[in-house]
Amino acid sequence: MAADEGVAAGAPTEGAGAAPIIFFGGKGGVGKTTMAAAAGLALAEEGLRTLVVSTDPAHSLGDALETRLGDRPRRIAENLWAAEPDAEAAVRRRVKQVTDDAYAALPREIMPAVQRHLAHAAAGPGMTESALNDLLVDAMEEVPGQWDRLVVDSAPTGHLLRMLHLPALLTPWLEGLARQRERATGADRFAAGVVGGSAEPEADPLLEKLRARRRRLEGAARRLREDAVVQLVLVPRRMVLAETERAADELAEAGFRLGPVVLNQVPDNPDSAVVEAVRQRFGRYGIRCCPLRAEEPTGPERLRRIALSQL
Ligand SMILES: Nc1ncnc2c1ncn2[C@@H]1O[C@H](COP(=O)(O)OP(=O)(O)O)[C@@H](O)[C@H]1O
Ligand SMILES: [Mg+2]
Repeated sequence: MAADEGVAAGAPTEGAGAAPIIFFGGKGGVGKTTMAAAAGLALAEEGLRTLVVSTDPAHSLGDALETRLGDRPRRIAENLWAAEPDAEAAVRRRVKQVTDDAYAALPREIMPAVQRHLAHAAAGPGMTESALNDLLVDAMEEVPGQWDRLVVDSAPTGHLLRMLHLPALLTPWLEGLARQRERATGADRFAAGVVGGSAEPEADPLLEKLRARRRRLEGAARRLREDAVVQLVLVPRRMVLAETERAADELAEAGFRLGPVVLNQVPDNPDSAVVEAVRQRFGRYGIRCCPLRAEEPTGPERLRRIALSQL
Protein backbone atom coordinates (compact mmCIF):
# COMPACT_ATOMS: atom_id res chain seq x y z
CA MET A 1 0.00 0.00 0.00
CA ALA A 2 1.43 3.32 -1.06
CA ALA A 3 -0.11 5.24 1.83
CA ASP A 4 2.24 7.50 3.82
CA GLU A 5 0.89 6.57 7.22
CA GLY A 6 -2.26 5.57 9.08
CA VAL A 7 -4.89 3.35 7.57
CA ALA A 8 -5.63 3.12 3.88
CA ALA A 9 -8.71 4.74 2.40
CA GLY A 10 -10.32 1.34 1.89
CA ALA A 11 -9.68 0.24 5.43
CA PRO A 12 -12.75 1.96 6.92
CA THR A 13 -14.80 -0.99 5.68
CA GLU A 14 -12.98 -3.36 8.05
CA GLY A 15 -14.66 -1.91 11.11
CA ALA A 16 -18.01 -2.24 9.40
CA GLY A 17 -17.62 -5.98 8.93
CA ALA A 18 -16.19 -5.63 5.42
CA ALA A 19 -19.60 -4.94 3.89
CA PRO A 20 -19.56 -5.78 0.18
CA ILE A 21 -21.48 -2.60 -0.73
CA ILE A 22 -20.14 0.74 0.45
CA PHE A 23 -21.90 4.06 -0.07
CA PHE A 24 -20.11 7.36 0.41
CA GLY A 25 -22.63 9.97 1.48
CA GLY A 26 -22.57 13.53 2.71
CA LYS A 27 -22.96 17.14 1.69
CA GLY A 28 -21.72 18.44 -1.65
CA GLY A 29 -18.02 19.25 -1.89
CA VAL A 30 -16.90 17.40 1.25
CA GLY A 31 -14.99 14.74 -0.70
CA LYS A 32 -17.36 11.81 -1.34
CA THR A 33 -16.13 11.24 -4.88
CA THR A 34 -12.50 11.53 -3.80
CA MET A 35 -13.00 9.05 -0.94
CA ALA A 36 -15.02 6.63 -3.10
CA ALA A 37 -12.25 6.60 -5.71
CA ALA A 38 -9.53 6.22 -3.05
CA ALA A 39 -11.45 3.43 -1.30
CA GLY A 40 -11.89 1.65 -4.64
CA LEU A 41 -8.16 1.81 -5.31
CA ALA A 42 -7.32 0.55 -1.82
CA LEU A 43 -9.79 -2.35 -2.01
CA ALA A 44 -8.48 -3.31 -5.45
CA GLU A 45 -4.96 -3.36 -4.04
CA GLU A 46 -6.13 -5.83 -1.42
CA GLY A 47 -6.98 -8.10 -4.35
CA LEU A 48 -10.75 -7.50 -4.28
CA ARG A 49 -12.46 -7.07 -7.63
CA THR A 50 -14.05 -3.68 -7.12
CA LEU A 51 -16.51 -1.56 -9.09
CA VAL A 52 -16.83 2.12 -8.23
CA VAL A 53 -20.03 3.56 -9.61
CA SER A 54 -21.32 7.11 -9.52
CA THR A 55 -25.01 7.74 -8.90
CA ASP A 56 -24.69 11.51 -8.96
CA PRO A 57 -26.37 12.71 -12.18
CA ALA A 58 -23.65 15.39 -12.33
CA HIS A 59 -20.87 12.80 -12.45
CA SER A 60 -17.36 13.70 -11.30
CA LEU A 61 -15.86 10.27 -10.67
CA GLY A 62 -14.06 10.41 -14.01
CA ASP A 63 -12.57 13.78 -13.04
CA ALA A 64 -11.37 12.35 -9.72
CA LEU A 65 -9.78 9.37 -11.48
CA GLU A 66 -8.59 11.60 -14.34
CA THR A 67 -10.14 9.39 -16.97
CA ARG A 68 -13.22 9.28 -19.19
CA LEU A 69 -15.95 7.05 -17.85
CA GLY A 70 -19.23 5.88 -19.32
CA ASP A 71 -22.08 3.47 -18.96
CA ARG A 72 -19.98 0.33 -19.10
CA PRO A 73 -17.47 -0.34 -16.30
CA ARG A 74 -14.02 0.72 -17.44
CA ARG A 75 -10.87 -0.91 -16.11
CA ILE A 76 -8.82 1.62 -14.14
CA ALA A 77 -6.20 -0.54 -12.49
CA GLU A 78 -5.71 -4.15 -11.54
CA ASN A 79 -8.99 -5.30 -9.90
CA LEU A 80 -10.58 -1.87 -10.28
CA TRP A 81 -13.37 -0.77 -12.61
CA ALA A 82 -15.38 2.44 -12.63
CA ALA A 83 -18.56 3.63 -14.32
CA GLU A 84 -20.69 6.72 -14.70
CA PRO A 85 -24.07 5.33 -15.77
CA ASP A 86 -26.03 7.44 -18.23
CA ALA A 87 -29.26 8.12 -16.32
CA GLU A 88 -30.99 9.73 -19.31
CA ALA A 89 -30.35 6.68 -21.47
CA ALA A 90 -31.62 4.49 -18.63
CA VAL A 91 -34.81 6.59 -18.46
CA ARG A 92 -35.35 6.12 -22.21
CA ARG A 93 -34.82 2.35 -21.89
CA ARG A 94 -37.20 2.17 -18.97
CA VAL A 95 -39.95 4.17 -20.69
CA LYS A 96 -39.60 1.98 -23.78
CA GLN A 97 -39.82 -1.17 -21.70
CA VAL A 98 -42.94 0.02 -19.86
CA THR A 99 -44.52 1.11 -23.16
CA ASP A 100 -43.81 -2.28 -24.74
CA ASP A 101 -45.31 -4.05 -21.72
CA ALA A 102 -48.36 -1.81 -21.87
CA TYR A 103 -48.81 -2.47 -25.61
CA ALA A 104 -48.70 -6.19 -24.97
CA ALA A 105 -51.20 -6.07 -22.14
CA LEU A 106 -53.58 -3.13 -22.39
CA PRO A 107 -56.44 -2.32 -24.76
CA ARG A 108 -55.36 -0.27 -27.79
CA GLU A 109 -57.83 2.54 -27.10
CA ILE A 110 -56.18 3.57 -23.82
CA MET A 111 -52.63 3.59 -25.25
CA PRO A 112 -52.62 7.31 -26.19
CA ALA A 113 -53.47 8.15 -22.57
CA VAL A 114 -50.81 5.72 -21.29
CA GLN A 115 -48.23 7.30 -23.58
CA ARG A 116 -49.10 10.82 -22.44
CA HIS A 117 -48.75 9.66 -18.84
CA LEU A 118 -45.35 8.05 -19.54
CA ALA A 119 -44.04 11.09 -21.40
CA HIS A 120 -45.02 13.21 -18.41
CA ALA A 121 -43.44 10.78 -15.94
CA ALA A 122 -40.24 10.53 -18.02
CA ALA A 123 -39.75 14.29 -17.82
CA GLY A 124 -40.03 14.35 -14.01
CA PRO A 125 -37.05 14.08 -11.67
CA GLY A 126 -38.46 10.94 -10.06
CA MET A 127 -37.88 8.97 -13.24
CA THR A 128 -34.15 9.76 -13.36
CA GLU A 129 -33.82 8.64 -9.76
CA SER A 130 -35.83 5.50 -10.42
CA ALA A 131 -33.69 4.71 -13.47
CA LEU A 132 -30.52 5.23 -11.40
CA ASN A 133 -32.00 2.94 -8.74
CA ASP A 134 -32.53 0.25 -11.35
CA LEU A 135 -28.91 0.59 -12.46
CA LEU A 136 -27.76 0.37 -8.87
CA VAL A 137 -29.91 -2.69 -8.23
CA ASP A 138 -28.35 -4.26 -11.36
CA ALA A 139 -24.88 -3.60 -9.96
CA MET A 140 -25.86 -4.87 -6.50
CA GLU A 141 -27.04 -8.12 -8.04
CA GLU A 142 -23.52 -8.62 -9.44
CA VAL A 143 -22.07 -8.63 -5.90
CA PRO A 144 -20.78 -11.20 -5.16
CA GLY A 145 -20.05 -12.76 -8.52
CA GLN A 146 -18.82 -10.23 -10.98
CA TRP A 147 -17.56 -7.98 -8.16
CA ASP A 148 -16.29 -8.57 -4.62
CA ARG A 149 -16.98 -4.96 -3.64
CA LEU A 150 -19.27 -2.24 -4.95
CA VAL A 151 -18.38 1.31 -3.99
CA VAL A 152 -21.08 3.90 -4.65
CA ASP A 153 -20.17 7.54 -5.05
CA SER A 154 -22.59 10.18 -3.93
CA ALA A 155 -26.00 8.79 -3.30
CA PRO A 156 -27.56 11.77 -1.52
CA THR A 157 -29.17 10.86 1.80
CA GLY A 158 -32.71 11.40 0.53
CA HIS A 159 -32.07 9.15 -2.43
CA LEU A 160 -30.72 6.36 -0.22
CA LEU A 161 -33.74 6.58 2.06
CA ARG A 162 -36.17 6.52 -0.85
CA MET A 163 -34.45 3.41 -2.19
CA LEU A 164 -35.26 1.58 1.02
CA HIS A 165 -38.86 2.70 0.92
CA LEU A 166 -39.46 2.07 -2.76
CA PRO A 167 -40.76 -1.49 -2.44
CA ALA A 168 -43.25 -0.34 0.20
CA LEU A 169 -44.34 2.61 -1.92
CA LEU A 170 -44.73 0.41 -4.93
CA THR A 171 -46.83 -2.17 -3.14
CA PRO A 172 -50.21 -0.35 -2.86
CA TRP A 173 -49.87 0.73 -6.48
CA LEU A 174 -49.03 -2.81 -7.54
CA GLU A 175 -51.83 -4.30 -5.47
CA GLY A 176 -54.32 -1.89 -7.03
CA LEU A 177 -53.12 -2.76 -10.48
CA ALA A 178 -53.14 -6.45 -9.66
CA ARG A 179 -56.77 -6.29 -8.46
CA GLN A 180 -57.76 -4.44 -11.60
CA ARG A 181 -56.03 -7.07 -13.72
CA GLU A 182 -57.69 -9.88 -11.82
CA ARG A 183 -61.12 -8.31 -12.33
CA ALA A 184 -60.35 -7.86 -16.02
CA THR A 185 -59.25 -11.46 -16.52
CA GLY A 186 -62.31 -12.61 -14.53
CA ALA A 187 -64.53 -10.72 -16.98
CA ASP A 188 -62.67 -12.31 -19.92
CA ARG A 189 -63.26 -15.75 -18.47
CA PHE A 190 -66.93 -15.01 -17.96
CA ALA A 191 -67.28 -13.84 -21.57
CA ALA A 192 -65.35 -16.87 -22.81
CA GLY A 193 -67.67 -19.15 -20.82
CA VAL A 194 -70.78 -17.49 -22.31
CA VAL A 195 -69.61 -18.00 -25.88
CA GLY A 196 -68.51 -21.53 -25.06
CA GLY A 197 -64.76 -20.90 -25.22
CA SER A 198 -62.13 -22.07 -22.80
CA ALA A 199 -62.63 -20.92 -19.21
CA GLU A 200 -59.08 -21.86 -18.15
CA PRO A 201 -57.38 -19.09 -16.16
CA GLU A 202 -54.45 -17.73 -18.11
CA ALA A 203 -51.14 -16.55 -16.73
CA ASP A 204 -51.04 -12.78 -16.80
CA PRO A 205 -47.63 -11.69 -18.10
CA LEU A 206 -48.00 -8.04 -17.03
CA LEU A 207 -49.03 -9.01 -13.53
CA GLU A 208 -46.15 -11.44 -13.36
CA LYS A 209 -43.74 -8.68 -14.46
CA LEU A 210 -45.06 -6.28 -11.83
CA ARG A 211 -44.71 -8.90 -9.14
CA ALA A 212 -41.18 -9.77 -10.28
CA ARG A 213 -40.31 -6.07 -10.06
CA ARG A 214 -41.65 -5.88 -6.54
CA ARG A 215 -39.68 -8.97 -5.48
CA ARG A 216 -36.55 -7.45 -6.99
CA LEU A 217 -36.98 -4.16 -5.15
CA GLU A 218 -37.73 -5.95 -1.90
CA GLY A 219 -34.55 -7.97 -2.33
CA ALA A 220 -32.58 -4.79 -2.98
CA ALA A 221 -34.01 -3.04 0.09
CA ARG A 222 -33.12 -6.06 2.22
CA ARG A 223 -29.59 -6.16 0.84
CA LEU A 224 -29.17 -2.46 1.52
CA ARG A 225 -29.89 -3.15 5.18
CA GLU A 226 -27.85 -6.34 5.43
CA ASP A 227 -24.92 -5.99 3.06
CA ALA A 228 -24.37 -2.27 2.71
CA VAL A 229 -22.70 0.32 4.86
CA VAL A 230 -22.87 4.07 4.50
CA GLN A 231 -19.73 6.05 5.17
CA LEU A 232 -20.55 9.67 5.74
CA VAL A 233 -17.91 12.17 4.73
CA LEU A 234 -17.76 15.57 6.36
CA VAL A 235 -15.42 18.51 6.82
CA PRO A 236 -14.77 20.21 10.17
CA ARG A 237 -17.36 22.98 9.82
CA ARG A 238 -20.37 23.51 12.06
CA MET A 239 -22.96 23.67 9.27
CA VAL A 240 -21.63 20.53 7.65
CA LEU A 241 -21.62 18.78 11.01
CA ALA A 242 -25.27 19.70 11.64
CA GLU A 243 -26.36 18.32 8.27
CA THR A 244 -24.27 15.18 8.70
CA GLU A 245 -25.85 14.53 12.09
CA ARG A 246 -29.32 14.70 10.55
CA ALA A 247 -28.28 12.38 7.73
CA ALA A 248 -26.79 9.89 10.22
CA ASP A 249 -29.98 9.88 12.30
CA GLU A 250 -32.23 9.37 9.31
CA LEU A 251 -30.10 6.63 7.80
CA ALA A 252 -29.74 4.75 11.09
CA GLU A 253 -33.47 5.04 11.78
CA ALA A 254 -34.25 3.61 8.35
CA GLY A 255 -32.07 0.60 9.09
CA PHE A 256 -28.84 1.42 7.26
CA ARG A 257 -25.58 0.44 8.88
CA LEU A 258 -23.23 3.35 9.32
CA GLY A 259 -19.53 2.72 8.85
CA PRO A 260 -16.68 4.91 10.01
CA VAL A 261 -17.12 8.58 9.29
CA VAL A 262 -14.46 10.32 7.20
CA LEU A 263 -13.46 13.75 8.51
CA ASN A 264 -11.89 15.20 5.40
CA GLN A 265 -10.01 18.36 4.49
CA VAL A 266 -8.80 18.88 8.05
CA PRO A 267 -6.62 22.02 8.11
CA ASP A 268 -3.49 22.35 10.25
CA ASN A 269 -5.41 24.35 12.83
CA PRO A 270 -8.98 23.05 12.78
CA ASP A 271 -11.76 24.51 14.92
CA SER A 272 -11.17 22.34 17.99
CA ALA A 273 -14.78 22.72 19.18
CA VAL A 274 -16.03 21.24 15.91
CA VAL A 275 -13.50 18.41 16.01
CA GLU A 276 -14.57 17.63 19.58
CA ALA A 277 -18.24 17.65 18.52
CA VAL A 278 -17.41 15.23 15.68
CA ARG A 279 -15.65 12.98 18.17
CA GLN A 280 -18.61 13.07 20.56
CA ARG A 281 -21.20 12.45 17.90
CA PHE A 282 -19.49 9.94 15.62
CA GLY A 283 -16.89 8.31 17.86
CA ARG A 284 -18.96 5.14 18.14
CA TYR A 285 -18.78 4.54 14.37
CA GLY A 286 -15.07 5.25 14.21
CA ILE A 287 -13.62 8.40 12.68
CA ARG A 288 -10.96 8.56 9.97
CA CYS A 289 -9.21 11.85 9.29
CA CYS A 290 -7.73 13.12 6.08
CA PRO A 291 -5.72 16.35 6.04
CA LEU A 292 -6.51 19.23 3.74
CA ARG A 293 -3.98 18.95 0.95
CA ALA A 294 -2.46 21.86 -0.89
CA GLU A 295 -2.91 19.87 -4.08
CA GLU A 296 -6.25 18.38 -5.14
CA PRO A 297 -5.95 14.61 -4.78
CA THR A 298 -6.97 13.52 -8.28
CA GLY A 299 -5.69 10.65 -10.42
CA PRO A 300 -4.75 7.16 -9.18
CA GLU A 301 -1.25 8.20 -8.06
CA ARG A 302 -2.41 10.96 -5.72
CA LEU A 303 -5.52 9.04 -4.64
CA ARG A 304 -3.34 6.10 -3.61
CA ARG A 305 -1.38 8.46 -1.37
CA ILE A 306 -4.49 9.44 0.59
CA ALA A 307 -3.89 8.17 4.09
CA LEU A 308 -6.55 8.24 6.75
CA SER A 309 -5.60 8.43 10.40
CA GLN A 310 -7.79 7.58 13.37
CA LEU A 311 -9.19 10.49 15.32
N1 LIG B 1 -8.29 16.06 1.52
C1 LIG B 1 -8.41 16.93 0.51
N2 LIG B 1 -7.50 17.91 0.34
C2 LIG B 1 -7.63 18.78 -0.67
N3 LIG B 1 -8.60 18.78 -1.57
C3 LIG B 1 -9.54 17.81 -1.46
C4 LIG B 1 -9.49 16.84 -0.43
N4 LIG B 1 -10.56 16.02 -0.58
C5 LIG B 1 -11.23 16.45 -1.67
N5 LIG B 1 -10.63 17.53 -2.20
C6 LIG B 1 -11.07 18.31 -3.35
O1 LIG B 1 -12.30 18.95 -2.99
C7 LIG B 1 -13.17 19.02 -4.11
C8 LIG B 1 -14.49 18.31 -3.77
O2 LIG B 1 -14.23 16.94 -3.60
P1 LIG B 1 -15.25 15.83 -4.17
O3 LIG B 1 -14.65 14.52 -3.86
O4 LIG B 1 -15.60 16.12 -5.57
O5 LIG B 1 -16.51 16.12 -3.22
P2 LIG B 1 -18.02 15.59 -3.33
O6 LIG B 1 -18.03 14.38 -4.17
O7 LIG B 1 -18.42 15.33 -1.91
O8 LIG B 1 -18.82 16.71 -3.90
C9 LIG B 1 -12.44 18.38 -5.27
O9 LIG B 1 -11.80 19.39 -6.00
C10 LIG B 1 -11.40 17.49 -4.58
O10 LIG B 1 -10.26 17.25 -5.37
MG1 LIG C 1 -19.07 13.99 -5.93
